[in-house]
Amino acid sequence: MLRDISNVLIGEDRIRERVHELGGQIASDFDGKLAEDSPLVLMPVMTGALVFAADLIRHLPFLLRLELIAVSSYPGKSMASKGAKLASELPGQLEGKHVLIIDDILDSGHTIAVLRSLVEEQNPASVKVCVMLEKQRHDGPAVANADYVGFTIPDEFVVGYGLDYDGYYRNHPEIVTLREDVL
Ligand code: IMP
Ligand code: MG
Repeated sequence: MLRDISNVLIGEDRIRERVHELGGQIASDFDGKLAEDSPLVLMPVMTGALVFAADLIRHLPFLLRLELIAVSSYPGKSMASKGAKLASELPGQLEGKHVLIIDDILDSGHTIAVLRSLVEEQNPASVKVCVMLEKQRHDGPAVANADYVGFTIPDEFVVGYGLDYDGYYRNHPEIVTLREDVL
C-alpha cells in the first residue's frame, strides 16, 4: 500500500491539529444553542467520513447523537461523483433539531446539496456542513458549500484518512495522492 503513494499532501500532525481546531470552533458555535432535550444530531456520510467523524466527535464536549447516512455516487465508483443519491434512510424526527452533516470531501458539491435539501425538508432548527477537505475545482465552483472546512486542496484525487480509491486506502493516516500507474 505504501508504495502506491505519490505525494503526502497533509500529514498526520497537521490533520490532528486541524481536527482539534475545528472541534473547538464547532463547540463554541453551538455553545448555549443546544437545549438539554435537543442534542446536536451529527450525520457522518458513510464511508468516507468515518475516520474524520471518529476523531472530530472526541473534540465535541456536549450531548450529541450520531446518525450515520449512506450515499451512493455515480457514475464511477472510484473517482469523484457527478451526482449522488441516498443509499440509506434518512433519520426522521429532525424537526427543531440542530443538524451537522459531516463528509470527507466537498468536490462537485452534489452529495452535500442532496443531503442538505433532504434534511431541510424536515424543518430542523439549523443545518450545518463540516468537511475535512474542499477541492479547488478547475471546472468552476461547487454546487454547495460547507460551513466548516478542514483544508482546501488542489484539484487532485486524494486518498487516506477515510478517503478511498475503489474501496482501498481509507486506513492510511495521511492525505495523499496515488501514483499514476495505480489509478
Ligand atoms: P461531490 O458530490 O462531487 O462533492 O463528491 C463528494 C464525494 O465524492 C466524496 O464524499 C467522496 O466520496 C468522493 N470524492 C470526491 N473527490 C474525491 C477524492 O479526491 N478522493 C476520494 N473520494 C473523492
Ligand atoms: Mg464518500
